[in-house]
Formats: sequence, structure tokens, C-alpha cells
Amino acid sequence: MNKIALFTGCFDPIHKQHLAIIESLTKLSHIDQVWILINSYSEEKSLSLPFSVRKEMVVTNFLQKSEKIKIYDWPVTFYTTDLIKELKKKDSQNDFYLVLGTDQANNLYQWERSEDLSELVKFIFVNRNDYPLDQSKLKKEMQWEMIDDDNKYISSNFNSSQIREGNNWNWLSQPTLQYIQQNCLYFYDILESKMSDKRFQHSLSVAKLATKIARFYRLKNLSKTFISGLLHDITKEFTNEEHIKIWLSSNQKTTDLKRQPQSIWHAWTGAIYLKHQFLFENQSILDAVYFHSTGRANMTDLEKIIFVADKVDPFKNKSNMKQAYQMLFTHEKKFDDIFKLVLAEFWKELESLKKIPTKSTIEAKNYYLAES
Ligand SMILES: [Fe+2]
Ligand SMILES: [Fe+2]
Repeated sequence: MNKIALFTGCFDPIHKQHLAIIESLTKLSHIDQVWILINSYSEEKSLSLPFSVRKEMVVTNFLQKSEKIKIYDWPVTFYTTDLIKELKKKDSQNDFYLVLGTDQANNLYQWERSEDLSELVKFIFVNRNDYPLDQSKLKKEMQWEMIDDDNKYISSNFNSSQIREGNNWNWLSQPTLQYIQQNCLYFYDILESKMSDKRFQHSLSVAKLATKIARFYRLKNLSKTFISGLLHDITKEFTNEEHIKIWLSSNQKTTDLKRQPQSIWHAWTGAIYLKHQFLFENQSILDAVYFHSTGRANMTDLEKIIFVADKVDPFKNKSNMKQAYQMLFTHEKKFDDIFKLVLAEFWKELESLKKIPTKSTIEAKNYYLAES
């Protein structure tokens, strides 16, 4: 007979609190296996991601972990009682333990069809400090035990929706973070909440155009291209106070930002914001965002692609960039030549508007356009 702990949830996304609980369960000597079961949907909250994506995110966290852990293949569509009846039907030899937070335990008997539960399973309650177990709400015949996660990830006011809203990403494990960043999960909703529809459409347009450029000219890192394009203007509509706050968070002097034209603040703070708020570590993405407005000497292909896609984006409809846009995807010119044309047009635009170029733009001009 196997003693199996059942840990169910939506895992939208799986975070460190879930992982800490799973680890505690695997350490229980009387438990042979921990099964992770992913709900197909939630009655209480709207989920951002389909089952298959949430499952894959869970799986990436257990690629090299204990053999005690099993991730259930199918989405849970049943009420918990019905689920356990089904599991028992498949193998009556198994002895199931249902894992619940103390917040859920206190409401257990308000659940649909929960009256039979205590005959079917034993319970493992995970102590949540903010929801002390109210034993008066339990039935006498229930068999239960309590585990204390070491509480380092338990917080009274944390819930997964904060992650979906773009906060507290330090609650995500490295594999989850990487999965989210590589697949651009949650970012569409986050961007929409931080910018006007026009800016959002421009961000999408730059992401698609940048990817098309990378594919057509056989430049590398298509996935980095899309996410850099999508997020390049993430702080564009932030207030000056917000820009300065982000700038100060990277231990830099306010005067260094204030000396620059305001139109480029968002490129610099955008990169810092991605690093601090969303824990991006990939320097090539951060640099592509940082230099998308100004350019610089000796740019990587990714930096050039984002620079070009942002400037020529037809959504912006800039007349001085039309020629460069029309040259894309024609085999007439190499990408580098189109990039130089865009840089030259950008330089002319600054001159005609009597805008002072930044140091990086002057260096880019000297590096790429020296002969002209
Ligand atoms: Fe921008
Ligand atoms: Fe832009």
C-alpha cells in the first residue's frame, strides 16, 4: 500500500511557497509519494494560462528532483471528493492524504460534496500563520496532522495574483522565471496595465517586426528578439517621479538622469525595471532595451534590430523612416546598410529639431557613419 499526499492547485504560476510545501511533504517519512494535481480551472479566480502551460511550468521545476514526486498528467475537473473516489477506483490499495492550507481547512465543510471526505482521506494541513486552524470546524472522525513549512516563504498578504499583476517576482523559482520570460507569459496583461492602447499596439508591432527582421536576415536569438521588442517601452508612460525612483534603485545619481533628454529616460529605466521588477538577467535583452532610443558604438545584432524596428515601426508612421522600412525584406540591401540608413535619418531628425544628441548617439554616429 502506497501512502500518497495529494497536493492540488492552479499553479498560475507555481511559486516558491508551493515548492516549499512540496519539499516539506517529501520529507515526511510516512509518505511514499507526493502527487501534484493541477486544476483545470478555478471557481474563485480567473486563470491567465491554460492547463498545458501551467503544467509545463510545474514540470520544469522538477526535472532533477526526487522520485517521490509525480505530476499528474490530466487536469483536475472533478470536485475533490469525486477526484479521490476516482483515484481510489483506479487503485484501491493506495492510501491518500489530502494536503490543505489551514485557510482551506477552516472552510472545508463548505465545499461541495465535502461531507464524505473524511471517510476517504487523511489530511495534512499546512500551517499558515495568518489562518490559525480552527479545530471546532473539523469533524471528530477526521484524521489529520499539521506540517509547518519553515515559513520563510509564507506571507499573510501574498497571493499568486500579485505575480500576474507584475509584482513580487522574487517569489518565483529560477526555472519558473526562465519559463515565464522565455515564453512571454503574463507580460501582455502587465503591459496593457502600464500603457495606453496605442503604446501597447506599438510594442506588439515592434516585437513582431523585430522577429521578422531577425528571421529574414538570419540573425540569431529569435526568442530574445521578440521579448526585447515587446518590452522595450515598458516604462514609457511612467511619470517622472516613477522614472527617478527606478533610477535611484540602481544606486545612480538623479543628476545623471536629469541631464539627459526626457525622451530617452524610459529606455534606461526600462532596462533597470526589467532587471529589478522582473529579474531579467540576460544582459543582451537589457542592453537592447537600454540602447533602443539612442544607439551606441559597436552594437550587437539584437540591439540594432530593436533600434531599427522601433524607429521604422509603421505604427509610428514617421515619414523620414519610410524609405528604410520599404527596403526591409527586399534583398536589395544588407541589414547593416538599412541600420545605418535608420541611424543617419535619426541623426538628421535630431539636428532638424535642434535636439542635443546623447553621448551614446554621438558615439554611434562616429562609429557607423564616420565616412558620411
Ligand atoms: Fe522607446
Ligand atoms: Fe518604442
